[in-house]
Parts: sequence; C-alpha cells; structure tokens
Amino acid sequence: SEYDVIIKGGTVVNAADTQQADIGIKDGRIVALAEKLSGSAARTIDAAGRYVLPGGIDSHCHIQQPSSGGGQNAETWESGTRSAACGGTTTVIAFAAQEKGKGVKHMVADYHEKAKQACIDYSFHIILNDPSDEVMETEIPELIESGHRSLKLFMTYPKNRVDDKQILRIFETARRHQALVCVHAENHDAIMYMTEKLVGNGFGNTKYHAWCKPPLVEREACQRIIMLSELMDLPIQIFHVTCEEAAEEIRRAQARGVKVFAETCPQYFVLTADDLDGDQRQGARVLCSPAPRSVADQQALWNHVRMGTIGNVTSDHAPYNIDAPDGKFWAGDNAPFSQIANGVPGLETRMPITFSEGVAKGRIDLQTFVALTSTNSAKLFGLYPKKGRIGIGADADIVIWDAEKKQTVTQDMLHHDTDYTPYEGMEVTGWPAVTLSRGKVVWNDGEVGCEAGWGQFLARAPYDYIKPSGKFPTPFNPITGKIEAGKTEG
Ligand code: URP
Ligand code: ZN
Ligand code: ZN
Ligand code: ZN
Repeated sequence: SEYDVIIKGGTVVNAADTQQADIGIKDGRIVALAEKLSGSAARTIDAAGRYVLPGGIDSHCHIQQPSSGGGQNAETWESGTRSAACGGTTTVIAFAAQEKGKGVKHMVADYHEKAKQACIDYSFHIILNDPSDEVMETEIPELIESGHRSLKLFMTYPKNRVDDKQILRIFETARRHQALVCVHAENHDAIMYMTEKLVGNGFGNTKYHAWCKPPLVEREACQRIIMLSELMDLPIQIFHVTCEEAAEEIRRAQARGVKVFAETCPQYFVLTADDLDGDQRQGARVLCSPAPRSVADQQALWNHVRMGTIGNVTSDHAPYNIDAPDGKFWAGDNAPFSQIANGVPGLETRMPITFSEGVAKGRIDLQTFVALTSTNSAKLFGLYPKKGRIGIGADADIVIWDAEKKQTVTQDMLHHDTDYTPYEGMEVTGWPAVTLSRGKVVWNDGEVGCEAGWGQFLARAPYDYIKPSGKFPTPFNPITGKIEAGKTEG
C-alpha cells in the first residue's frame, strides 16, 4: 500500500498553526498531509473529533541513573520510556552522569548500553560534577561531536555541585564546541547552612524541606548563573523554575537580550509546600528540588508561560520508591528531609497535567501546549525539524489527544515501575488516546504496544538556535584569549 498508516479526520495542531488534515505515514515518517488523503494504507486510524499533535518531548528526566544523594532510581530504560509513551511522549532526553574523579567516555558508553532497551527515541545530557582538564579538553569535545550536544551541571547537592569557577570552565568548553548547558540553580551554601540549622534543632519533618530552600535561594542562583552565562556569552537553559522571583530574574535577563531559556514542570503547577506537611511517608511522596511553592507562584508560572519567559515543560521524572529500603528512605524510615531521596515520578502524567491545568482550565491555548510540551524542546535541543512538528519529512511521532476525557490519576493505571504517583486521586481533563513512535502504535486507548529496543539514539548536530550573540562584556574574548576590540561576532 501507499502508506503504512493514515490518520484520518483529526485536527492537526502545531505550535504555529492548526488545520483539518489527514496524515500519511510511510517508513516511520510523515510523507503526506492534506485535507483528504485517498491512498491505500495498511492501517487507518480514525481521529475524528480529536486533536493530532506532535509527540511529546520530555527533555529532562532521570532514567536508570544514580541519584544526586542516596537512593536507587526505580526505572529501567524500558519501563521509563514505556510510561512516557503511554502519556503521549515520543522522545526523552535523559542523563548520563559523571562519577566524581572519573572520566566520562566509558560512563557515556555504559548509559548507551542500558538505553538500548528504550521503547521511544532518546538522547542524553551529560552531567558534569568534576570538570578536570582531561575531561574538558579531550573527552567532552569528542562526546559533543558524536551528538551529545548538551551538558548539565548542579549548583547544589554535595556530590554534584560545581563552584562558579568550575562552571566557567564548563561554559568555556560548551561555547567552544557548541553545546547547550542546562543548570539546576539553587544556592548550595545557603541550603547546607539552613539544613544544618533546621535538622540540628530537631526540624527534620518533610515540611522543612521547603523552609531550607525558599524561593530566594533559587532566585539568587538564577541571577548568578545568568551573570556567568553573560560573562561567557553562552546561551543556557535553567531547569525547573518554580517561582515568581526566579522567573522575574530570567525575564529581566531575556529583556536585555540574554539567551536564557527556562523550563518548568507539572509538579510546580499542582503541588505546593503544604503538600510536604504531613508525616515523613506522606511528605516524601512530593519531596523534590527545588521545593513546591505557593498557589501564587503557580499562577506566576502560568503568567511567565504566557509571556514566553518559560518555554518548555518537562517531567524531571526522578523516581524513588516509597516502599523499598533503597528508595526514598534509603537512610531509614525516620530520616530527616535532608536524607530523603529528592524527586517525583512524572513521565506519563506530564502532558495530561499540563493540558488539564493549562488548556482545559483556559490558561493557555492548544498551540501553546504543543510548543511547551514538544516544539520548543525540539528547537532548544537541536531535534527540530525531525521532531517537534507534524509536517512532511518529520518523524511520525504523533499523539492523538482526547481533550474531553475525564481521568482520575491512580498508581494502578500508570505504566512506570515506580511504586507510587504523587498525583494519586487527581482529576484531569484530557488524556492521550493513541501514541505513535516513528509510525509504530505504542499506545492505543489502554493498550500498550511498546517494544524494548524500538527507540533510537538521537545524535544532535550543531544548530543555530543556541548560537551565542558574539559579544562579551569587555573586548577580551576568554575563549580565544585575545582582545578583540570593535569585533561584534563570535
Ligand atoms: O528533586 C529532584 N529534582 N531530583 C532530581 C535531581 C534533580 O534535581 O534534577
Ligand atoms: Zn577542541
Ligand atoms: Zn534538578
Ligand atoms: Zn532533574
């Protein structure tokens, strides 16, 4: 037949436009897009009354990766990507994490080996916590060249944090070799000090997790990482922005022309610090960093989404089991908040919660939803136009969305390997009906069609979206080591 699959009668929504169209798929790609397609197809999917969207791109998730503190990641590449696919996501960018004192080349190869079990396409950010000369001058340039075009650093967490000078070292290599740096921005010393004070005085309950790292701790780190990025003329992405104060810093930088991109996550749309207030077991289910904030901050995040300050929504899926000795409570059942594994699972609920809170509640339109959950991440990480759009030549990564469906989120209905969801009992409106990964139906109204090993590694080539401005704050170019008075391009 002419097509492998035809999707008929749906409303096709891209970040920039909406149209009534049929979609023809052949050999994993979109080969036809027209009001009516008449060719023959091995399989026809009826999308009448439904929205047909680019498959989701989750550009921040921790899969089968050791945690930043203690605790064992509950997901395998198979379970994590299966769960993502059932939630409408067709691409994940996860992490390959350096171990302190060690190189990164073999480490990255090990992660590739594990990721061969992926059910959907994937790529990696390389987490650096020890930017030695050897790593930065030889290994990282080679890895960037082979398609690992993003690095991630932590400004906090004892095992992972890098100091400002190390950050500049990482920025230098990223600038030289065209990689995007992603940042977890919180002030480490303030958190360490407050943790000692709180826990030392007997305030170890999970509710004090939010008190030890209030919004200003995030605001300062955002301001500082932006300053460092301006010093090096390097575009960056700030991960998981949670509050008005941090978003305002980012907005101010964007307004003066700094290329700083910002992400938020569904947990910051629906959880608040009050959810941490309970017994340790209850609080641990929502304990993540940065901490959940206030209802006013949730509203502020939507404002900044609408203004464009925040461009993408990712899960920051960081799965630790509640009922396992090596999960959330790796340090014991009565551990203080500082020794409970950080993070919440959310690969599968990312798109439904964002749709429900965003589109169904009238805060954003559908095209913005597509931009937030797919297109902007594709552009930001060099996957566009292969991913992140429905158009001829793009991969047939598609989610057919049932915008009317009322769904109660429960652990039982999800497909991850984590033993809980922080959203148990939450009512959402809208859920993916069908997900296709390169033309293969991986989710169909409750039926899982995932196949471990189907996913392919996405090597990312250099791309213009993250091009620096070419201007440093002074005539001195720290990359070339030369004074370039009057020069305005890099
Ligand atoms: O609490 C979180 N977010 N845990 C995952 C690690 C990180 O901070 O990215
Ligand atoms: Zn080089
Ligand atoms: Zn983080
Ligand atoms: Zn994370």
